[in-house]
Amino acid sequence: MKRVLVTGAVGQIGSELTERLRKMLGGHRVVAAGHIKKARENLLASGPFHYIDCTRIETIAELVKTYRIDTIYHLAAILSATAEKNPQYAWKVNVEGLTNVLEVAREHDCAVFTPSSIATFGPSTPLTRTPQDTVQRPTTIYGVSKLTGELLCDYYFNKYGVDTRGVRYPGLISYKAPPGGGTTDYAVAIYFEAVRHKSYTCYLKPETFLDMMYMPDALRAAIELMEADPTKLKHRNAFNIAAMTLSPTKIAAEIQRLIPDFTLDFNIDPLRQAIADSWPDSMDDSAAREEWGWHPEYDLTAMTREMVDNISRMRDTNK
Ligand code: NAD
Ligand code: SER
Repeated sequence: MKRVLVTGAVGQIGSELTERLRKMLGGHRVVAAGHIKKARENLLASGPFHYIDCTRIETIAELVKTYRIDTIYHLAAILSATAEKNPQYAWKVNVEGLTNVLEVAREHDCAVFTPSSIATFGPSTPLTRTPQDTVQRPTTIYGVSKLTGELLCDYYFNKYGVDTRGVRYPGLISYKAPPGGGTTDYAVAIYFEAVRHKSYTCYLKPETFLDMMYMPDALRAAIELMEADPTKLKHRNAFNIAAMTLSPTKIAAEIQRLIPDFTLDFNIDPLRQAIADSWPDSMDDSAAREEWGWHPEYDLTAMTREMVDNISRMRDTNK
């Protein structure tokens, strides 16, 4: 991994992954590619930045040729709640966009990391200790498109030998860049509202349990999988990875240990509740543990302390 392209680099994961990779490899070796949304100053200052549209293959190919890219972290996508509002566009970005990346990778011999999601499972999947290989009948267009992506990545490896790898991320919690329109976004908003206003109105029911992970673990997973010995990988794409099983009340109780007067109430959004109810509470990540040594480092207590400390610091700096 010497010259890297990160698509979706202005997004929740992409902005932090770009920062992490630039620290590891040097800024000039990591090309950040955004789309429409304005990039933060540190992303622009720390290495090359360009705008692409992953539905237009030539915009990806040009960057790969110009910078002699050998590894693509393809993070551009439309997330679950936004996707339900425009399913045709979500399919275009999530499936045609990925196909374009895979085609460019095939032609220019690049490795490709593509995150999949808990959303590739559905109501007929076992939602507790969800196995690595199991029933996948998602009921959202996001899930359908991400599952298609898993299969496309397997296909490009089997048919053309493209070095495709990927994980199924749970909902990700972070403070540096806002989440991009997913069902799990409440688990970020709850921390910001707790620090700023000591109250939060949640759109999911109190005991809605979902798989979640703190961003530093998610970044480490992507990098470690791309560095893993390929001879040990039986699955390659779509590894279940897990860290903690959380509900709104469980996160609130942990926040109250640090902010005792924090209050949580509810105004349920039927669309996002239905999506959350169809997703796993906890995935079985033993294949990732066995094949490339995956393990999470953060639990709810450690993550909550960091989230509250960092958001408080950001609030105090902006006063
Ligand atoms: P995000 O919405 O924050 O970022 C995605 C980025 O893609 C955005 O910045 C957007 O501008 C860009 N984009 C949209 N359309 C584009 C196009 N046509 N061309 C180029 N770029 C385009 O999402 P994220 O949370 O950073 O997710 C990154 C990846 O991780 C996605 O594949 C997502 O499905 C997956 N994932 C995320 C989570 C999570 O909780 N954040 C969980 C599971 C999987
Ligand atoms: N966090 C993502 C979402 O809610 C799951 O992939 O859409």
